[in-house]
Amino acid sequence: MTKCISMAGLALICGTGVLLAQEPAPKSTTAGVFTDEQAKRGAAAYSANCAACHGAELRSSDREIPHLTEKSFKFGWIGKTIAERFEFIRETMPPKVEKKLPDQVYLDIVTYILRFNKIPSGDRPLKADVEILKQILIEAPPD
Ligand code: HEC
Repeated sequence: MTKCISMAGLALICGTGVLLAQEPAPKSTTAGVFTDEQAKRGAAAYSANCAACHGAELRSSDREIPHLTEKSFKFGWIGKTIAERFEFIRETMPPKVEKKLPDQVYLDIVTYILRFNKIPSGDRPLKADVEILKQILIEAPPD
């Protein structure tokens, strides 16, 4: 059905039809859901916005501030969806600062943290679409 009627509810149905026609979202990070280039951009944004607290190598020197690698990554990230981590960071980090980074920058930082923790990269950049991010599970990288 290609006809779109301009009433709010029906237009939504029309939009859903378009979405269904696209490729399904990957189900886990094993598929390689972001690019190295994106993770590199994320590294620069991490240095500028997060490293002062969480450390250059994702290891913080302050006991009050969690690492973002090793055990902290294993327990805080593996088994969650990318959306969960993306939304948490977007809503709360850096603490006590009004949201100030664009969504795509937050997501690039998330891909950097994933890459740093040996989650595989792939051919296509990840977009800041929460509905898609909700479907992608963070899976432990191969040993
Ligand atoms: C001013 C210091 C500071 C800055 C800057 C900061 N954080 Fe945090 N972060 C904290 C503190 C303190 C906590 C622990 C308290 C909490 O969870 O709210 C935390 C917690 C976190 C957690 C949860 C860790 C876990 O294991 O549950 C993540 C993820 C995180 N920060 C990511 C980031 C990212 C990404 C940035 C940059 C956009 C950032 N933080 C910037 C201080 C900071």
